[in-house]
Amino acid sequence: MKHDALEKNVGLLMALILICVSFGGMVQIFPLFFGGELSKPIPTLKPLSAVQLEGRDIYIREGCAVCHTQMVRPLQFETARYGHYSVAGEDAYEHPFLWGSKRTGPDLARVGGRYSDAWHVAHLMDPRSVVPVSNMPAYPWLFENTLDGADTAQKMRVLRTLGVPYTDDDITGASEAVAGVTEAQALIAYLQNLGLDMRGYGEGP
Ligand code: HEC
Repeated sequence: MKHDALEKNVGLLMALILICVSFGGMVQIFPLFFGGELSKPIPTLKPLSAVQLEGRDIYIREGCAVCHTQMVRPLQFETARYGHYSVAGEDAYEHPFLWGSKRTGPDLARVGGRYSDAWHVAHLMDPRSVVPVSNMPAYPWLFENTLDGADTAQKMRVLRTLGVPYTDDDITGASEAVAGVTEAQALIAYLQNLGLDMRGYGEGP
């Protein structure tokens, strides 16, 4: 029997398995490259404001993504805790995305509006003051450092070349909006916006 020959010839079997698996992989992967679905924003998606954008850069600089994911998986115990699972279109303006891979702390993809600004101030100043068992580091310097907004407009121009729809008005007013804001204020503005664009997207599973 032909199949017999195949099963007794390990080299041939491996070659044919490789062809099958590659074909299956291509069928799944290639449409994603060409369909544009991954980079299509959800209808409610808005670009970050100038201050939120600076807050996002502080989030990156301080390594928040090392302990926090921004990726709710489509599993019931996740959606019950955090809200709607993450979809590709909500990250269409993220360059780079901050999905993360390690959760020492909770996922933050839906943290916007969950706490007051005052809670975040206390938490960033000293996490133990609001969550006694927390092992999150304190970030007191964020309250001392003030942003001057010198690079904000340029950052927005670069993001525009990558497809983020900033208007000329957004860019003109950027430095002025950011100048004088503390790093903590910018970071909190960013955190309070996380997941808001997903409101009304659907009830989830
Ligand atoms: C060493 C790991 C670690 C780092 C780094 C870290 N966190 Fe956390 N974070 C935690 C842990 C653990 C918790 C849960 C306890 C708590 O609420 O403090 C937490 C909780 C939070 C919460 C509350 C989330 C919720 O749903 O209750 C926010 C918001 C947050 N962190 C923001 C940040 C920001 C912003 C940064 C960067 C400036 C940061 N974290 C850096 C570990 C970390």
